[in-house]
Amino acid sequence: MSSKTEFASKIGLVAATVGSAVGLGNIWRFPAVTQEGGGSAFLLLYVLCVLLLGIPVMLAEFSLGRGTKSDSIGAFRKYTPGKPWWIVGALAVLASYLILCFYTVVEGWTLEYLFESITGGLFSGLGDADIAESRAFFGGRMEEYVCSDLRPLIFVFVAIIVNMAVLLGGVQKGIERLSNVLMPVLFVILAVLMGVSLTLPDASEGVSYFLSPDFSKVTPKVVFSALGQAFFSLSLGMGILITYSSYYPKDTRLARTSVIVAVLSLLVAVMVGLVIFPAVKSFGLDDESLQGATLVFVTLPEIFARLPLPQLWSALFFVLLAVAAVTSCISIAEVSVATLQDRCHLSRTKAVLCVMLPLTVLSALPSLSFGSLEGLKIFGMTVFDFLDNFSTNILLPIVSFGVCLYVGHVLPKSYLHDELTNNGTVRSPLNSVSAFVIRWLAPVLIALVFIYDFL
Ligand code: PHE
Repeated sequence: MSSKTEFASKIGLVAATVGSAVGLGNIWRFPAVTQEGGGSAFLLLYVLCVLLLGIPVMLAEFSLGRGTKSDSIGAFRKYTPGKPWWIVGALAVLASYLILCFYTVVEGWTLEYLFESITGGLFSGLGDADIAESRAFFGGRMEEYVCSDLRPLIFVFVAIIVNMAVLLGGVQKGIERLSNVLMPVLFVILAVLMGVSLTLPDASEGVSYFLSPDFSKVTPKVVFSALGQAFFSLSLGMGILITYSSYYPKDTRLARTSVIVAVLSLLVAVMVGLVIFPAVKSFGLDDESLQGATLVFVTLPEIFARLPLPQLWSALFFVLLAVAAVTSCISIAEVSVATLQDRCHLSRTKAVLCVMLPLTVLSALPSLSFGSLEGLKIFGMTVFDFLDNFSTNILLPIVSFGVCLYVGHVLPKSYLHDELTNNGTVRSPLNSVSAFVIRWLAPVLIALVFIYDFL
């Protein structure tokens, strides 16, 4: 039964959790929100949000998962059976599955770009003379790779198969083993790309943009966006951390683990900033939007095309992106897998198949929403945008709010203390401050962001 499953080693559980946290949020959301929010003024706010709010809320999820050793619905049932708190867990499962549907699509794109980088297809037909036109060139490629019908679908299916293979391997032999290998790879690639970017001409302009704050751009909206980014990039409110921490052994030091995960996730975001901003400034591409798909699929290939060995840098970058996407995607799929195993007593194989096979249809819809289903609108949004907005702007804050209320006010005060100190056997300096943040500060701020988003 999955409730007895545990990660085999401390390094493995950290690697898996960092693998979940470090995802497209760090790589393609972070540069965009940083650019909008005044460079390092935003960075500073983001760091504060991660440290002051993200870590305590992460500890609330960890204590819930490790303390109950249950899936995200069972975690709310164990100490309050018969009460409706399990609905918070169910919303987490819903959010995670909706995110899984569109994240698999993006994972497919990264695999497609990786394939095209290795084979050289991404750059074929781009002569030296065309460099000035490279924006149009890579924009056209993106149309072909992302917005057509069949091509992206094929890679969505590849992504589903990759995820399924890892999940079928199980928690230790699939998720943990893969993360142990891929996380160091991710850091090495980032370090190499950072070295390349920082040695470009005029790279220092990008560095100073990224690291010297412009406080005039800081508005309430920017503060809230830093908070949203902090929560998203730590994988909060999705049931992931409840599920993964249910696989943590009882002697895991939760406070220490949360600090390591948060710091590594921050480190990746900063390293990504030091790859993107110097390169973008150096080649004068800083008027382009650094927003998600365009940044990754148009601006970055433009940069690679201007470097010697474009295929190499492009392939390295898309390996990085694929690693980030795969390790996050399996963590979010694991929420549903664990729920089916624990709630419906399915074997792991059956649970994995029940979660993954419907994706062949459910991920096809958001994928096609860039192609022939573009006209299909839900509340005025394409299927992809609807899934993204509904899950990240509505469900995630509700779940985080619910987790804080539950751990902070419904469970006895001693619960969090016992989990953080491993029943009084280790000291946890984060104890009292976490309790305060979980009980009062985080719920108030999450509610404010939620209301603000609606105004
Ligand atoms: N922290 C993850 C990221 O930055 C959040 C996430 C995890 C999103 C899993 C989707 C799936 O991308």
